[in-house]
This record gives sequence, C-alpha cells and structure tokens, in this order.
Amino acid sequence: ARTIAVSGTASGIGKTLAGLLREQGDTVIGVDLRDADVCADLGGAEGRSRAVAQVLDLCGGTLDAAVACAGVSDFTELPVKVNYFGVVALMEGLRPALARAEAPRAAVVGSIAGTHPADDEIVRDCLAGDEPAALEAAAKAVAAGAGSRTYPSSKAALARWMRRACVTPEWAGEGIPLNAVAPGVVKTPMSAPLFEDEAMLKVMNEAVPMPLNGYAGPEVIAEALRWLISPANTHMTGQVVYVDGGAEATLRGPDT
Ligand code: NAI
Repeated sequence: ARTIAVSGTASGIGKTLAGLLREQGDTVIGVDLRDADVCADLGGAEGRSRAVAQVLDLCGGTLDAAVACAGVSDFTELPVKVNYFGVVALMEGLRPALARAEAPRAAVVGSIAGTHPADDEIVRDCLAGDEPAALEAAAKAVAAGAGSRTYPSSKAALARWMRRACVTPEWAGEGIPLNAVAPGVVKTPMSAPLFEDEAMLKVMNEAVPMPLNGYAGPEVIAEALRWLISPANTHMTGQVVYVDGGAEATLRGPDT
C-alpha cells in the first residue's frame, strides 16, 4: 500500500480523492484547516511548515505521492496565499520525502481560470517567490476593482511553477512526475454560491463553457488525479490536464 498526502481533504475534490485512495487500500494523510489528520492553515508560513513537519512525521520520512487540492476562490488576496504559496510550500516541503519513495508522484489542482485574464505583476512576484510583493500587487488589484484577477493569477502562476519545476534535477532528476489537473466548474461547496445567483451563473457559463456533459462532480477530477499519481504514470509530467467539459478547447478557439 502507498502512503499519500492530500491537502483539502475536508471538502470537495480533496475529500473525494481521499475516499477513492482509501478505498483502493492506500494510506491517506489529509491536510486541511479542520477535520484532517493534519490541521494547519496553508495560507501562512507557520501553518505551512507545521503541515510539512507533521506529514513527514506521520509518513516516517517516505511519501509515495502528494496532491495539493486545498484552495480558495474569492476576490481578495487570499487565493495568492493559499493557491500559490501554500501549494508550492507544501510540495517543496514534501519533495525530499517523495524522492525516497520507489514510484513517487505529485499533482496539484489548477483551474480553467488559469487561462482567464490575470494580473502580470501578481504572477511575476509569485514565480519570483516574493510573497510580500505578490500580496501587495494583489491588494493593489483589489483596490482597483480587479479583485476577480487574484484567483486566475494564483492558478496561472501555479501552472507555470509546475512546468518550471517538473524538469529540474529535484523533480525529474528524482523520478517524480509533477502535473496539474485544471477543472472547469465542479459541483462542490466552493462553487455552490455561484449556483444560487443567476447573474453569477450567467457570467460563469460564459467564462467556462462546458459543451461536454456540463458541470462535473468532484469524482471526475479525483479520478484524473488518481491516475496522475498512480505508478502507471511514468512519463507524463509538466502537463496541465484540463478536465473541463471542453472549456479550454472552446476558449482557445478554432485556430490554435
Ligand atoms: P472546497 O471548498 O470544497 O474544498 C477546498 C478545501 O480546501 C476545504 O476543505 C478547505 O478547508 C481547504 N482549505 C482552504 N483554505 C485552506 C487553508 N488556508 N489551509 C488548509 N486548507 C484550506 O473546494 P473544491 O471545489 O474541492 O476545490 C479544490 C480545488 O479545486 C481548489 O484548488 C480549487 O481552486 C480547484 N477548483 C475548483 C473548481 C470548482 O468549480 N469547484 C473549479 C476549478 C478549480
């Protein structure tokens, strides 16, 4: 049996993935704000290092896979803290334990929103690893009425971090595939408020057109993650896998 760390296990996609993995006999170490094996706030430095330390302790220093599902979606600077710096800190912190496993795998959850208009300054500061600057840029965007750009920026930056990291000696060199699944709209507690507001729903349906089978359930995303972190995935790395009912293909248009 493999030991797998999953963040965001208290709800939605992370919770569903943890269930699937436990069903197939894996040991899951769940990380979340509450109701988890490791309760920690990935939005801040203290919580991140505590989360890493406790996971390393629970797995005994060797980890077969790590999946970052924890995330937030709002129009503040919080997505930058949790979706970018929280995810990167967790993955980088757990990487040495992955490197000790026989068939280590890693995956993060991005979003179709990573293809939506982003704030270049936030993305640049994230990739530079400068959290104070990224948060300042995000606060500036919020103050300018562009708070809707913080979430797309966090996910765009995460996809770029993943592509940069995956080919380095630390990841590829240690035999660790690192990928992202990017959902369209998934029916979870995160997206529930959208379905209660007709105007929001209309905006969302235009921003995320899903001609194939409509909105997904969390199990759809969890199944894709399950494969990416399985021993069967020996050569796929650095990919953003859109599991989005055709949203990315639609938004990309017919000429690319
Ligand atoms: P959810 O809200 O159901 O679950 C997210 C989990 O992350 C919660 O259990 C929450 O407590 C945890 N979390 C949030 N902030 C945290 C923090 N600071 N520290 C530790 N844990 C924290 O959301 P869902 O839908 O399962 O989202 C999972 C991932 O999928 C997120 O990264 C989200 O951005 C992404 N996603 C979701 C979509 C959707 O339509 N639901 C669409 C595209 C991407």
